[in-house]
Amino acid sequence: MDTIVSGMRPTGRLHLGHFHGALKNWIRLQEQYRSYFFVADWHALTTDYASPQNIQQNTIEMVMDWLSVGLDPGRSVIFRQSRIKEHAELHLLLSMITPVPWLERNPTYKEQIKELVGKDLSTYGFLGYPVLQAADIIMYKGNKVPVGVDQAPHVELTREIVRRFNQVYRPVFPEPEALLTETQKLPGLDGRKMSKSYNNAVLLSDSPKEIDQKLSRMMTDPARVKRIDPGEPEKCPAFELHKIYCTPAEIEEVSKGCRTAGIGCLDCKKIMIRHVVEELGPISERRAALEKRPDEVEGILLSGNRTAQEKASETMSEVREALGL
Ligand code: TRP
Ligand code: SF4
Repeated sequence: MDTIVSGMRPTGRLHLGHFHGALKNWIRLQEQYRSYFFVADWHALTTDYASPQNIQQNTIEMVMDWLSVGLDPGRSVIFRQSRIKEHAELHLLLSMITPVPWLERNPTYKEQIKELVGKDLSTYGFLGYPVLQAADIIMYKGNKVPVGVDQAPHVELTREIVRRFNQVYRPVFPEPEALLTETQKLPGLDGRKMSKSYNNAVLLSDSPKEIDQKLSRMMTDPARVKRIDPGEPEKCPAFELHKIYCTPAEIEEVSKGCRTAGIGCLDCKKIMIRHVVEELGPISERRAALEKRPDEVEGILLSGNRTAQEKASETMSEVREALGL
């Protein structure tokens, strides 16, 4: 049985973008693979080293969302990166064989430095971020790494590091492959990419009322200023959600209604909102139940940490032996 490994930075409560971009896949994959899913809290520090205060709270919030959507601790090892110190040791050893130019070439590195202005990212840790990611993956001898396309260069780099390790010392690790998740880029309420930092997200923990309020004011085709103005669904951010949630017949009906001004935007969105509420209803109910039992969430993490720890210490014994340490 192949092993998958994936991590997510602890950003707190998750939204519909995380759900369609990653979590739905994770839930499907955990049926077919030995699965490790972890809270990448050390990774969070590579960019947010100056504000570590929220990591604890965000970790719990995120894991509650994972469990609410159906990540199953009976099938998957759910753990917290910083609890498994072996990741730091492996990161150190991999850093010895990783040429700096491999890291400087990394497209996400260059992009993020440009994008995240106001943060000084000229740090050693930020440059070495993909080496830590490589350690995360190979610690559990992951064969497949479910990630979005933005992360593909990191998995490629992991493969290069693995090849070098296996050649310089001895073959210990399989070369992992990215399992690219066709990320449907989900637009947020204002039409930009759905993101917590834009404050335009529908959270998995939102109540039906909040979902309705948020989506009712979601941006539509700007050409539809008045009810009688016809519109074009392909220019409407809300319609991206119709495409995910509605039946073919509904999509057909709505598209026609939009182009002929036969339907108003609010009525049009109501058709989609019903489906979103239906999908998120049971999720936010499970979450509400978990919120009343925070020790259960802590317990799940503790037991996942223990399982991950066992595998990690096994791998590190092999690694130390390969190096003669
Ligand atoms: N870098 C990933 C992100 O920002 C998170 C991550 C850390 C990860 N380690 C990983 C993903 C290992 C997959 C495998 O989204
Ligand atoms: Fe979008 Fe529907 Fe309004 Fe057309 S009618 S602009 S598809 S919300």
